[in-house]
Amino acid sequence: MHDTDFAVTYRTQDYYNQNADVFFDDTVEVDMKPLYARFLKLLADHVAILDAGCGSGRDALAFAKLGYSVTAFDASPALVALAERHTGQPVHCLRFQDMTWQQQFDGIWACASLLHVPGEELPDVMGRLRAALKPGGILYASFKYGSGEREHQGRRFTDLDEPGLAGLLAQVPGLVPVETWTTGDLRPGRESERWLNTLLRRTA
Ligand SMILES: C[S@@+](CC[C@H](N)C(=O)[O-])C[C@H]1O[C@@H](n2cnc3c(N)ncnc32)[C@H](O)[C@@H]1O
Repeated sequence: MHDTDFAVTYRTQDYYNQNADVFFDDTVEVDMKPLYARFLKLLADHVAILDAGCGSGRDALAFAKLGYSVTAFDASPALVALAERHTGQPVHCLRFQDMTWQQQFDGIWACASLLHVPGEELPDVMGRLRAALKPGGILYASFKYGSGEREHQGRRFTDLDEPGLAGLLAQVPGLVPVETWTTGDLRPGRESERWLNTLLRRTA
C-alpha cells in the first residue's frame, strides 16, 4: 500500500461513519481496567487527560468518573455524536493530523486509534501529540502487532512491532519509552489478536 493512497484513508473514515452504531455496541462495554491501571499509575490524581480517537467515549467516561479532567476527540462525526451522548460531555470532531494543542495535557490516551494514521504521517502526528503534552506528560498508544501497512475489511492499518516503534521514535525527539508490552485483544473471542502497547514520556 502506498502512503499516499488517500482513497483507503477516506474509506476508513467512511467505515466508522457507516458502522458507528455497531462499532459503538461492540466496544463500549469492553473492560479496559488492566490497561487503565498501567497508564494511570504514571499520572497524578485528577490531572488533564486527552482521549485521542475516542470512538464510543468508553475510556473518556471511565477517566471522568475517576475524577480526571477529560477532553476527547475523534475524526468520525457519527462516533463523536455517540460519544457525546455516552459521556454527557462535548467531544471534538478532529483528526490527529490537525491537532494544535500546546502543553495542555498530563496524559494522552490513544487506544487503537493511531493505527489508522498512514505510516508516512505518523512522525508528524507523534510530534503533535508530544506538543500537546506537558513536559513529563505520558502518552499511551496501541497498534496491531506487526509491520507495514494494509487494508482489512474497509479500514487501513499501520501495524507496529518493537523495531517499528523504535524507528518511529527515532524521528520524534523528546518522546521516550517508559514501557512497551504486548497483549491479546480484550474483546471476548478475539484474544488471539496481538497488540503492541506503549507508554511514552515527553522529556522536555
Ligand atoms: C479502532 S477505533 C478505537 C476507538 C477507541 N479508542 C477504542 O479503543 O474503542 C479507532 C478510532 O480512531 C478514529 N480515527 C481514525 N482515524 C483518525 C484520525 N486520523 N484522527 C482521529 N481519529 C481517528 C476512528 O474514527 C475510531 O473511532
